[in-house]
Amino acid sequence: MSDWFSSRELSVGYNRQKVLENLTCHITTGETIGLVGANGSGKTTLLKTMLGLIPPLAGEMSTARDKIVAYIPQAHEVDELFPFTLREIIEMGASAELKPWQAPGSAISDKVDAALLQTGLIEKAEWLFSNLSGGQKQRAILAQALVRRPDVMILDEPTRGLDIVQTQHFLSTLEQLRQRNGLTMIFVSHILEDIVGIAGRIFMLSDCRMQILSELNADSIVAFKKHLIAVAENKNYE
Ligand SMILES: Nc1ncnc2c1ncn2[C@@H]1O[C@H](COP(=O)(O)OP(=O)(O)O)[C@@H](O)[C@H]1O
Ligand SMILES: [Mg+2]
Repeated sequence: MSDWFSSRELSVGYNRQKVLENLTCHITTGETIGLVGANGSGKTTLLKTMLGLIPPLAGEMSTARDKIVAYIPQAHEVDELFPFTLREIIEMGASAELKPWQAPGSAISDKVDAALLQTGLIEKAEWLFSNLSGGQKQRAILAQALVRRPDVMILDEPTRGLDIVQTQHFLSTLEQLRQRNGLTMIFVSHILEDIVGIAGRIFMLSDCRMQILSELNADSIVAFKKHLIAVAENKNYE
């Protein structure tokens, strides 16, 4: 298997602030990575660097050029501004790949229906996006990404703000999609339990460094929770 991403001694951050340093890692095609860390540890900064949205501060990185990448940013409170139905929002995702001379037609509506079916939202197609529940909105955003037939899906805290039932539904939808489409995935969360069932390896960020775990066990979950509490209380990690 080839790598989708690899880096050597990579530093990421902003002009005046190095957020992470000395990252040497690779992500193999078809792999699912769980990216975890406390608030402010650099999860979003790392993703944006991988996507080429932020230049690296030092070191080397490369990403496979022939892959379609869907990036699902951290949720923000903009949805109430969009008076669109779910179907329209997904059509916007699908039409992004139309050539200038192509009219949206049945090819698009077939893709939209397929994405709605795969995310369990076909019955909500004509609903206004703003009237969907939090869990349905997150699955709608997944459906919008899916119509582009991505090879790589990068999800930044997709389960934040969802309750336990919505989270479980979202994760099982994601797992089905991953298996069916052979996606390479990076899933960001600060909740390790969300990652346990789906991620192969875990990239854990703390103190400007990245630790790579090949599996999670009860001890590492407890240690990580202590770390989150310590960061929140601004104490040293023990
Ligand atoms: N645009 C920016 N300019 C400067 N610093 C930033 C910017 N965005 C985030 N940061 C800082 O970079 C650090 C990592 O942030 P971020 O990657 O958003 O963390 P996470 O996603 O893990 O919560 C934080 O200290 C944050 O304040
Ligand atoms: Mg973030």
